Formats: sequence, structure tokens, C-alpha cells
Amino acid sequence: NFTPKSFVEEIVAEMKEKIQDEKVVLGLSGGVDSTVAAVLLNKAIGKNLYCIFVNNGLLRKNEFENVLNQYKHMGLNVKGVDASARFLSELAGVDDPETKRKIIGRVFIEVFDDEAHHIEDVKFLAQGTIYPDVIESVSVKGPSATIKSHHNVGGLPDFMKLQIVEPLRMLFKDEVRRVGKTLGIDDELLGRHPFPGPGLSIRILGDITPEKVRILQEVDHIFINGLKEHGLYDKVWQAGAILLPVNSVGVMGDERTYEKVVALRAVESTDGMTADWVHLPYDFMMKISNEIINKVKGVNRVVYDISSKPPATIEWE
Ligand code: XMP
Repeated sequence: NFTPKSFVEEIVAEMKEKIQDEKVVLGLSGGVDSTVAAVLLNKAIGKNLYCIFVNNGLLRKNEFENVLNQYKHMGLNVKGVDASARFLSELAGVDDPETKRKIIGRVFIEVFDDEAHHIEDVKFLAQGTIYPDVIESVSVKGPSATIKSHHNVGGLPDFMKLQIVEPLRMLFKDEVRRVGKTLGIDDELLGRHPFPGPGLSIRILGDITPEKVRILQEVDHIFINGLKEHGLYDKVWQAGAILLPVNSVGVMGDERTYEKVVALRAVESTDGMTADWVHLPYDFMMKISNEIINKVKGVNRVVYDISSKPPATIEWE
């Protein structure tokens, strides 16, 4: 029978025994799993844990700064690496979803590896792999941008000759959250919606430009904040906005506009394998739609995605 408290005691002892005085590097993503793994290891080995948090330029608005600050407050030894410009330049002109994922995965590993080489004599790579990642070791859509990609379970990029430690590999998601709570991690962090490794790149249909990223970050920010302010965030499993590669005609004052369309998506799910669209209140949708169109330059139309999975997927790419 699983109890978070005894799990923490046992795994901390096990990690101490295994790692001894060696150094460990871990990639933080801002998500629940990597955060809980980091806090556990911090408890076990303290400053010998080196965390790296990479900004791929495709995170939510202000996410990099906010999450990095949170990590520092939690006492983690974390280095933030802003590689936005590099990711965006490698992605320029690419519109195929799988190619985008591959580029992001590759650049992430290059950036991470560069940083890991700055840590002298590092012996271990820690990952936030959880049990469902272990059993479902092939993702349908291809590699994620985090090193905790399903594809890396049991294997490593050749150039990283590190031993793997995966303190959460026997746990389900709800158990990870309970462990996180026992460790004193903020409810807000533990309750975060899942966010894909390739980030906003797979929610910008077609090619990616810094301007499109800016537009989508603004739209997403209004939507997610709105969900929080209206007490809806915790009722939804995952939510976000998608920037469509079409312009539509609108009118502003007595001017005709021809601007971007965004789609909002909010789903209920337990594991992401199946999902239903959420019946958000009409009043809420009206308010959010007005706010987006009034505040986000370049957008003149908002639509709501009412497709379930299957046959649709949660992401559009
Ligand atoms: P789909 O779109 O396949 O998404 O219904 C199911 C869940 O997986 C997430 N997702 C990804 N996560 N790398 C990730 O780390 C990816 O390439 C990727 N594609 C989809 C998606 O956000 C949802 O939670």
C-alpha cells in the first residue's frame, strides 16, 4: 500500500546509497514530474544535484522567469539557459509537425549536453520518468523536447555517457503529486496542466516566427489566467490556444481587417489517451473571446474546439 511519506524515506535512502558523493545533472521542465524528481534528489544529495532549465522560446508567457524563480526559492541548484534564439532560428521556415519535434529534440539535447559538460566529473543523469512512460515507451507523435522523452527510457544519446537515475519510475501520476505534496511543493505547481515538450511550436500550425509566438503567448495567457480567475482551471485536465494558419475578414470601427484566427481548446481526461472537450460556460467564453480580440493585436476571430479524442487528438499537430 503506497504512502508518500515512506516512499520518500525509502527512495532518499536508496538514492544516497546509489549516488554517494557523485554529481547528478537533471533537466527541469517546469512540469510536475521533473520538479518532484529534483526535490527528492535535492533532499538526498543536496548541492551535488545540478539542475538545468532550458528556455526553448516556446514556453508560455513569462514562464521561464517565473518558474526559474520558483525553483530558486525551493532551494534547488538550478541554472536557467535561455536558448530561445537558437531554437527559433533552427525552426525558421519549418512547417512539418514531426520535423519541428525532431529539431526541438535535437537542439534540446545539444544545449543540455553543452551545459552538462560544464559540470566537472558528473556521473549521473536524473530523469523524471514515471511508470506510464516506462510502459508506454513509444509515443505516437514522436520524440518530445525534454530529455525525459519516452524514447529515452533505458537509453541515452551516445555522447552522454552518464548513468541514469529515475526516482519516480515506479509511480503513477497521482502518486507523484502526493509525493510532491509531502515534500512541501506548492499546490499551484503540483496542479499544473500537462504541457508538451515542443511547447507552443505544435500549437502554431505551419511555420514559426517570433511574432507568431508572441501572439500565441498573449492569447494563451488570457485564456489560462481567465480559467484560473473563474475557478475553472482545476476542472480542466489541459487547456491551451492554437494559432491557425488562416486569416479571416473582420471589422474594426469602419475599417475592414484581415487577421489571424485562434482556436481555444480545453479537455477533460485522465491520462491523455482519450479526452472530451469541456463545456466551458458561455459567459466565460464570451468574456475571454472579447478580451483576446480587444487586446491581442493581429487576432480578429476566436473559435472553440469541440472535438473529442478519438478521433481528434488533443494537440492539433
Ligand atoms: P495528443 O495530441 O497526442 O496529446 O492527443 C496527448 C498528450 O500528449 C501531449 N503531447 C506531447 N508531449 N511531446 C510531449 O512531451 C510531444 O511531442 C507531444 N505531443 C503531444 C499533449 O500535450 C497531451 O497532453
